[in-house]
Amino acid sequence: MTDRIRIEHANRVTTITMARPDKKNALTQEMYGVMANAVNAYGTDDEARALMFIGEGDYFTSGNDLNDFAMSANRQATDKDELPPVVQFLHAIKDCEKPMIAAVNGPAIGVGLTLTLHCDLVYAAQSATFAAPFVKLGLVPEAASSLLLPAAIGLANASDVFMTGRILAADEALRMGLVSRVFADSDFVAETQALAAIVAQAAPQAMRHTKALLRTQTDKVGETMTAESVIFADQLRSPEFMESVAAMTQKRAAVHP
Ligand code: COA
Repeated sequence: MTDRIRIEHANRVTTITMARPDKKNALTQEMYGVMANAVNAYGTDDEARALMFIGEGDYFTSGNDLNDFAMSANRQATDKDELPPVVQFLHAIKDCEKPMIAAVNGPAIGVGLTLTLHCDLVYAAQSATFAAPFVKLGLVPEAASSLLLPAAIGLANASDVFMTGRILAADEALRMGLVSRVFADSDFVAETQALAAIVAQAAPQAMRHTKALLRTQTDKVGETMTAESVIFADQLRSPEFMESVAAMTQKRAAVHP
């Protein structure tokens, strides 16, 4: 068990807080494992009616822990018995039949953005930002985001987000349709908790049906995730990834001959 993920239950709302503020809430395999179990437990707990993701401090999450990437690549190559925790987590959010809320309190980078695509309600604080810098790292979209992001914001916008890796402000994300509402930072927690309470009080069966009906267009999510993960794993072992991470660490531009 890690104290870097906090799970709280109150008034039928399960809150998962990514709590590693010294590393901008970057997610390790251990943290993914805890979150996967929490999402799966939520899915089968009749008392829990809404689940909310939020980050501690000034970040939502800076995405996958960069140091963990290489280790997880090796683990995927050797461990045949069990899916890596990150994959367990992605399956858990893909398969969850109950409402999930992303309360994006600050920057959401990489998986910070792509996890919101599996959430039914995505709210942003004014200071939240969004970026998917996979190509900048020599990587490719994951979590079925190559399907879900264009479905959410259109192909032109999704290509812009993925191919430039640029940072979107909360208001731009709102205009694109990546988030449904933006709240002032000072009101953010109270506003999102009030919205979570509305979801938690609603008729649970109608809520499940509504979620399933809204997501019928995206029934290729599983196969997209699998296809992405094969390319992602190859890229993790590529010179492009090595050079991109080295360049980032050395604070210089990456050179790809
Ligand atoms: N993985 C591992 N460590 C991370 C991290 C990540 N994804 N994001 C931030 N950190 C760590 C930094 O290494 C630093 O650690 P240190 O204090 O031991 O040196 C600490 O968090 C604070 O980050 P810092 O870079 O000093 O803060 P900043 O405000 O200048 O920049 C970010 C914050 C998130 C913009 C920057 O750290 C960054 O670009 N991180 C990588 C994000 C990324 O590419 N994620 C993967 C997407 S696929």
